[in-house]
Formats: sequence, structure tokens, C-alpha cells
Amino acid sequence: MKTHIAVATSLLFLCASLITPSLSAFLCHPSDYNALMEIKNALNNPYHLASWVPNTDCCGWYTLQCDETTNRVVELTIFSGQVSGQIPSAVGKLPYLTNLTFRKLSNITGSIPRSVTNLKNLITLRLSWLNLTGPVPDFLSELPNLTFLELDFNQFTGSIPSSLSKFTKLLALHLDRNQLTGSIPESFGHFSGSVPDLYLSHNQLTGSIPKSFANMDFQRIDLSRNKLTGDASVLFKPNGSTQIIDLSRNVFEFDFSKVKFPRQSLISLDLNHNSLYGGIPEDIVNVENLQFLNVSYNRLCGEIPTGGKLDIFDSYSYFHNRCLCGPPLLKCK
Ligand SMILES: *[C@@H]1O[C@H](CO)[C@@H](O)[C@H](O)[C@H]1NC(C)=O
Ligand SMILES: *[C@@H]1O[C@H](CO)[C@@H](O)[C@H](O)[C@H]1NC(C)=O
Ligand SMILES: *[C@@H]1O[C@H](CO)[C@@H](O)[C@H](O)[C@H]1NC(C)=O
Ligand SMILES: *[C@@H]1O[C@H](CO)[C@@H](O)[C@H](O)[C@H]1NC(C)=O
Ligand SMILES: *[C@@H]1O[C@H](CO)[C@@H](O)[C@H](O)[C@H]1NC(C)=O
Ligand SMILES: *[C@@H]1O[C@H](CO)[C@@H](O)[C@H](O)[C@H]1NC(C)=O
Repeated sequence: MKTHIAVATSLLFLCASLITPSLSAFLCHPSDYNALMEIKNALNNPYHLASWVPNTDCCGWYTLQCDETTNRVVELTIFSGQVSGQIPSAVGKLPYLTNLTFRKLSNITGSIPRSVTNLKNLITLRLSWLNLTGPVPDFLSELPNLTFLELDFNQFTGSIPSSLSKFTKLLALHLDRNQLTGSIPESFGHFSGSVPDLYLSHNQLTGSIPKSFANMDFQRIDLSRNKLTGDASVLFKPNGSTQIIDLSRNVFEFDFSKVKFPRQSLISLDLNHNSLYGGIPEDIVNVENLQFLNVSYNRLCGEIPTGGKLDIFDSYSYFHNRCLCGPPLLKCK
């Protein structure tokens, strides 16, 4: 009988110590722990964050990652769950974050909290496929180390802040699939460090491409599905390194025959649904790696050049123009 009680008691102690291990054994920094608890509360304790159990080691929780040497929270990814509310201001209390992601959460609304500017180590900020509204905040340019800024698939309105050109390490800027208006800032021709890939498609941008773009050698630029007008030939730099240009479904109007292609780099060129005139420049056959071409639905005329990579494209690259002719379209008269 006595031994039974002794065994039961020691089992009880064992269980108790498993359930409440001493706090000092946790890797998680107390200030990160507190910030995460604030975040969880601000999001109304969603089931998606069920692994964030109070008084356990936050470095073991799902959806986040601690640095292996400092044990500070460096990555927080809240992705595709039943989570609603605004982006908690407490994210700004995780000063060692390098990667912050809120993605595919249609019930995340409101604006981006100013506190993100405390995150001076942030490399990637991904707030996409949410329902964020209001203007794209000016203060984002205060993040000195940002290399990827993705605010695509939201409901942002207003114009693009010109301050976004202040980033020096930016490699990609995604503002596509919002409701942005106004023109592309002149300052985007003066990124002070690296030249980012620029994704501005599916907005309501107007005006022409800034003259300053003559200085910029974008590798990838997608301005499709806006209301942009005028001459876009400044984007074509014969000795540049541009790989992808998508200007489709705008109101661009310029003489296509004057364009000089980046022969060594260009891979994909989509100009469909604009008002381009002139002919297709013969020089296009010298583009070494062209894999996609669409100049359909423009006002182009004349014979389609043949040879080089051009032979792989069918009539769907050229149809609905004023008077383009020759294979793969009908014979010229
Ligand atoms: C969004 O909120 C609505 C209303 O509260 C709810 O019915 C819906 O399930 C939520 N969706 C997600 C993905 O959380
Ligand atoms: C943060 O993002 C960068 C760029 O996308 C990536 O290279 C890096 O591995 C990410 N860091 C962590 C901790 O996931
Ligand atoms: C989020 O956006 C979708 C469409 O993108 C819309 O149907 C839905 O009502 C929005 N939800 C909220 C909570 O605003
Ligand atoms: C940018 O990141 C580096 C480490 O990648 C860090 O040393 C530096 O302090 C950060 N810059 C600023 C202004 O905090
Ligand atoms: C392109 O490079 C070639 C040779 O490297 C040079 O002769 C030519 O002038 C350059 N063209 C332009 C427009 O810079
Ligand atoms: C070019 O764009 C038009 C209009 O969107 C489309 O119908 C056609 O299939 C596209 N061509 C190619 C080769 O993708």
C-alpha cells in the first residue's frame, strides 16, 4: 500500500514538472514572448495560433522562427488561416525580425501600423492577399535593410509614395493588384542603390512613364492593366539587362519601329492591348533568348520579320493589328 502511494506521488510530481517546466529553461526572450502574446490577443486568440501556448517556449511555436545563436524571434509568418483584425501594432516590439509575413488572410483589414518602422533589421515585408486599405504609407521608406516589399492583392488607394525610391537594397517592389491612382513617381528613376524589379500591374495608374526611367535598367517591369499613356520606348535599352517587360492593357502610344531591344537579356515582351503604331523592328530577330512575345491588339502595320527566335510564335502573338502581315498571319498584299 505504502509503495503504491509513493509511486503515485512521484508520478504526480513527474507529471507536474513536465507540464510546468521552469521558465528559465526557455530559449524565448521574455520581451519577444510578451510581444507575441500581445499579437495573439490583438488577433482575438485565433485557432491558427493554437501552438502559442502561454508559459511555453515561444521558440518552439509554429509560424515563427528564432535565431539559433541569439534565440531572438527573426521570422514571423501568418499565412492562410481564419485570422481577423488589423495587423497588430505589437509586431513593432520584435526588434530582431528579419522577415515578416501576413499573407492570404482576407479578414485582415485596416492599415499598416507605423510601429513596423522599429524593425530596422527587416529584410522582407510581405503583407499580401489581405484586405488592407488606405494609402501605401510613406514611412515604409524608413526600413533601411528592406530587400523585398510585397503589398500586392490588397485594397490600397491613393498614389504611390515617391519616398519608396529611398530604399538602397530593394530587389523587388510589389504594389500590383490594388486600386492605386496617380502617376508613377519621377523618383522611381532614381533608386539610390539596387534597381528593384517593379510590379505595378492591375491598378488605375495614369500619366506617362517618367523621363527619369532613362537612368534605370530594370530587370523585370510589369505595368500591365493600368491606364498609362504616351511613349514607353524609354524602357528598351539596347545594352541593358531587361528580361521581362509587360505593358499590356494600357493606352501606350508610340512608334514601335524605333525601338531597340536589349538583345542579350530580353526573354518576355507583352504589349497587347495598347495603341502602338509603326512596324515590328527587324532587330527583334536578334534577341537571343526571346521566349514570349505578344503585340496583339495594337495598330501595327507591315511585314512581320522572320528568323531567329521569332519562328516559334503563332498568330496569337500578332493578331488584331491594323495591317500586320506575313507568316504566321496572312500573306502581305
Ligand atoms: C471572415 O469573417 C467572416 C465574418 O466574420 C467569417 O464569416 C469568415 O469565415 C471569415 N473568413 C476567414 C477566412 O477567416
Ligand atoms: C528571409 O527572406 C529572405 C529573402 O526572401 C530569405 O533569403 C531568408 O532565408 C529569409 N529568412 C528566414 C529566416 O526565413
Ligand atoms: C476582403 O476582400 C474580398 C474581395 O477581395 C471581399 O469579398 C471581402 O468582403 C473582404 N472582406 C473584408 C472583411 O473586408
Ligand atoms: C541592416 O542589417 C544589418 C545586418 O544584416 C545590420 O548590421 C544593420 O544594423 C542593419 N541596418 C540598420 C540601419 O539597422
Ligand atoms: C552598346 O554596346 C556596344 C558594344 O559594347 C557599343 O558599341 C554601343 O555603342 C552600345 N550602344 C549603346 C546605345 O550604348
Ligand atoms: C496575346 O494577348 C491576347 C489578348 O489578351 C490573347 O488573346 C492572346 O492569346 C495572347 N497571345 C499569346 C501568344 O499569349
